[in-house]
Amino acid sequence: MPWGHKTVLLCGLAIYILSLVVGVEEIQRHDECADLNNTTWKEYRQQNDKLQVQYLLMTRRNMDCAHMFNQESLTQQASYFNISRPTKVIIHGYRALGSKPAWVKELGQALLRVQDVNVLVVDWVYGASFAYNLVVENYKEVAVQISVLINQLQEHGCKLDSFHFIGVSLGAHVAGFVGTLFEGKIARITGLDPAGPMFKGADTYDRLDPSDAQFVDAIHTDSDYFGISIPVGHVDFFLNGGKDQTGCARSRFASMYGYVICDHMRALHVYMSALNGSCPLIGIPCSSYEDFLKGNCLDCDVFKGRCPVIGLSENSRITVSPVPKEQKLFLLTTSSPPFCAHHILLVLEVSALDKSADVEVTLRTENLGTEHRFRIQADTTVYRTVLSHPAALCEIHSIELKNIGAFYRQGDVHVKSVCLSEIPSLRREQPLCVNNINIRRGARWSHDFVQVCGFF
Ligand SMILES: *[C@@H]1O[C@H](CO)[C@@H](O)[C@H](O)[C@H]1NC(C)=O
Ligand SMILES: *[C@@H]1O[C@H](CO)[C@@H](O)[C@H](O)[C@H]1NC(C)=O
Ligand SMILES: *[C@@H]1O[C@H](CO)[C@@H](O)[C@H](O)[C@H]1NC(C)=O
Ligand SMILES: *[C@@H]1O[C@H](CO)[C@@H](O)[C@H](O)[C@H]1NC(C)=O
Repeated sequence: MPWGHKTVLLCGLAIYILSLVVGVEEIQRHDECADLNNTTWKEYRQQNDKLQVQYLLMTRRNMDCAHMFNQESLTQQASYFNISRPTKVIIHGYRALGSKPAWVKELGQALLRVQDVNVLVVDWVYGASFAYNLVVENYKEVAVQISVLINQLQEHGCKLDSFHFIGVSLGAHVAGFVGTLFEGKIARITGLDPAGPMFKGADTYDRLDPSDAQFVDAIHTDSDYFGISIPVGHVDFFLNGGKDQTGCARSRFASMYGYVICDHMRALHVYMSALNGSCPLIGIPCSSYEDFLKGNCLDCDVFKGRCPVIGLSENSRITVSPVPKEQKLFLLTTSSPPFCAHHILLVLEVSALDKSADVEVTLRTENLGTEHRFRIQADTTVYRTVLSHPAALCEIHSIELKNIGAFYRQGDVHVKSVCLSEIPSLRREQPLCVNNINIRRGARWSHDFVQVCGFF
């Protein structure tokens, strides 16, 4: 069981690796620029297990050079904090060995490129930050401290509905508890792979849930390990099913980073990429990943045809009211930025089989190929699956089928039809179909499509 292996690793080695990976430094620092504290284990221990919280401010005027921020900053003329603008609050998660997260600046900058806002970064760490369960017991104290600052900002004229919290891992539950303290009046909370261990069975009071803000969205990428497997927001995007991400190592021998934390951190990287806005990352509502992969969920009709999208769009672009709760959304991604994939529904119908058949299908767009292997059982004649392909349906140049069954198990396969369509099926395009194909064992069959994009 992967859980067993991973747990053993966590006990020591993984935490060490984690700190190396997460603690990578930004190279350049101006002397006057504030940064997240980078205190060592020993130094924190000497602070008597006390919670340390400080805030950094980034705005469009100081995108490269964060300033320290506190209540006094508000009364100073020189502060860049603008109370008439919305505020994004970034909360990092558990910091093994107190090393600082390296992605904070990039996330702040990505947010500022999209919106002219105040970005407050919460820098928190416990003296005892090295035991995850101790930190979990105490994370609410961080939320209480943040709520003190928010109260002060309110006294200066900031409105609760101008705050959007973005919490990574454990930071998502910290944000959730701030939301609880303000009775759900905060505008929005975004949870980036909200932490799972010790939270899945927790009461909604103790974890992020839809009542914590007017709108709560979450991205799930490691729900079988560091992340939470249940929906915690109004909308919950489960990337590639929410457990294992493409391009992350499945074996600890291949890459430590890949094995231990790549899945968990993918939510953050996909979110930053969505903010960069090179392509839309939309989720398709479905009750389970299995149903989604079987092509049982093909549209966003429950949202009047507008699929929810990852990023800063209001209510993830949902206009129906009331906004749903704990709506699971599924999407497939590619393994590297910008992560967007096209969802292609493959439907293959064969004539009755004597024995099960193993088939490999390849979709090609120039040098990009998507390969998928599957088995059709003897008692079925139709196989349906949703595949991720880097290009749109209209850009697929060819399809290949190969009969890959072992000789003693499988004879020729007669394919009555193979059809491709793109989902969500918003434009009601006709599927691309090829009919009546015989593929002999070991042989490869291929068909070129002649099509042009953009006639709709
Ligand atoms: C952070 O800590 C490491 C290890 O103690 C040290 O090498 C590095 O210079 C520190 N960085 C900053 C910005 O203080
Ligand atoms: C963080 O570091 C700065 C300067 O390096 C220091 O002034 C500040 O007190 C530290 N904050 C905490 C919470 O340790
Ligand atoms: C604060 O924000 C408001 C609204 O965006 C803007 O009109 C005003 O000029 C800003 N003030 C400063 C000092 O930048
Ligand atoms: C977003 O865009 C910035 C600037 O163009 C780039 O430096 C950064 O790597 C991009 N991040 C992602 C995740 O695509």
